[in-house]
Amino acid sequence: MKIKYFLPFFLLGIFPVHENKNFYNSKSVTNPEEYSIQKRVVCSNGAVVSAHALASKIGIDILKQGGNAIDAAIATQLALAVVFPVAGNIGGGGFTVARLSNGELIALDYREMAPGKATRDMYIDKDGKARTDESQDGHLSSGVPGSVAGMFALSKYGKLPFKKLIQPAIDLAEKGFTLTEREANSYNGLQSSLKKYNTRRSAFEKDTPWKEGDLLVQKDLANTLKRIRDKGADGFYKGKTAQLIVDEMKRGGGIITKDDLKNYKAIYRKPHVFDYKGYTIVGMPMPSSGGLLLHQMMKMIEDRNIASMGFESTQAVQLMTEVERRAFADRAEYMGDADFYKVPVDKLTNSAYLRERMKDYDPDKATPSTMVKPGKLLKAESEETTHFNVIDKEGNAVSITTTLNDSYGSKVVVGGAGFLLNDEMDDFSIKPGVPNMFGAVGGEANAIAAGKRMLSSMTPTIVLKNNEPYLIVGTPGGTTIPTSVFQTLVDILEFGMSTEDAVNKPKFHHQWLPDVINVEKGFPKDVEENLKKMGYTVQQRYAIGRTEVIRVLPDKKFEAVADNRGEDDAEGW
Ligand code: GLY
Repeated sequence: MKIKYFLPFFLLGIFPVHENKNFYNSKSVTNPEEYSIQKRVVCSNGAVVSAHALASKIGIDILKQGGNAIDAAIATQLALAVVFPVAGNIGGGGFTVARLSNGELIALDYREMAPGKATRDMYIDKDGKARTDESQDGHLSSGVPGSVAGMFALSKYGKLPFKKLIQPAIDLAEKGFTLTEREANSYNGLQSSLKKYNTRRSAFEKDTPWKEGDLLVQKDLANTLKRIRDKGADGFYKGKTAQLIVDEMKRGGGIITKDDLKNYKAIYRKPHVFDYKGYTIVGMPMPSSGGLLLHQMMKMIEDRNIASMGFESTQAVQLMTEVERRAFADRAEYMGDADFYKVPVDKLTNSAYLRERMKDYDPDKATPSTMVKPGKLLKAESEETTHFNVIDKEGNAVSITTTLNDSYGSKVVVGGAGFLLNDEMDDFSIKPGVPNMFGAVGGEANAIAAGKRMLSSMTPTIVLKNNEPYLIVGTPGGTTIPTSVFQTLVDILEFGMSTEDAVNKPKFHHQWLPDVINVEKGFPKDVEENLKKMGYTVQQRYAIGRTEVIRVLPDKKFEAVADNRGEDDAEGW
């Protein structure tokens, strides 16, 4: 398959050149065998930016059929479950933050839930050792999936019937889509885990290596999606699909039961909203730490004139690092599912408290994390989650982050149902002080309990200016998510950077423990050297996240920018 990349080269956006002339003439806009990828678009009617071109194009197609941004977001999420199984999912969970055309702000929680048989010490062996192998892969690592319940809960704000929104995903699963080289390599890398953790053969398994241009057909997944189309959420949480999940659990030693599935509910929460220099920032509340961390970090820099320091100056990076360190130390101690643990949100965002938190900040040297609070070291792991944004001309703006946790989640494909299950149980603190796969530590607040939702870092965010959508932002990346969103907002709101630069320029990250500043390739060497002289440990690492942004321009047009770090795609209409 040939994929064409379209990079922006003039101000008012670009028009994709589709290899298939009928691209926009057919009923469905997507030709899953030949499609283009574009990184930036400027448009007037609506925009979608996601991790996969086919999913973004399906979202736009739904807008063209009269759907609103909510409809487009649902169709995009379902398409991602087919074309981006590394993180797109129906076997995982996520969060939606949205601003509706009537001005209403919503936050929807469809985070996975610990099964009824889960216990606080379920990953601790008889010698007291934490079994991260079991919390991170295989059947026991899965929480009760929330994505399908989430999409049905969200659909009350849509205009089109759910059947219409799910059909493109069914078609993609049934007829297949061609793989890019990157995707083929990714499936090849998955083969040994599939063999290790699965009790049945799935569509992802292949005896000869996957290669670019191969067609991935997922019949079992298509049938699962058809049951959801025909029976609603019950097509997943009850009946045949539920039976297939429970059978899979029994074969592989997992603990999710029919009752767990039947009782799962997506929950509307009060969005985490705060003001930053006249902008209203709308984020996700617990069980995601994202909104609260972003709030703390933004407020800790608010009165320090960071704009005068300049983008990626030593001063600005040092300040942001110290702010990130302090927020993440609070995360470890105080944050968890607020339905189970009283999270002191007001106290953590109180301006006197945040001033006190920065009292030992020294602009000339590092504050070692041991002086903030002790902990353990990071284990490097992939951070696969996925984020997408949608906006429409009615004024609906949607920011969704969804995940299986790390790449391909538990690596368990539900036999006969064709979808991967998450390994989200690892986002709990499985033992106080033992880092999860992202190096995050925790304790009581995020301890495992039956029915509890594990603490997340996902940070779907909307920024309003004069109460109208201005920015829609989010990214995958585990614990790097809140710091990447923080950086993106600072880049745009303080440094006045272009959307493309805010998305694509090198990012950095600090999370209290380990006491390291991670920087991406391309981070300025002189700044790195200056930071080392101030006492920081700086380490270059693989790409940080894949930030997607939609910005509303002064002329009310939508600018959507997809991250260059992946095959992410921005579509507009
Ligand atoms: N599983 C990554 C997160 O929720 O933060």
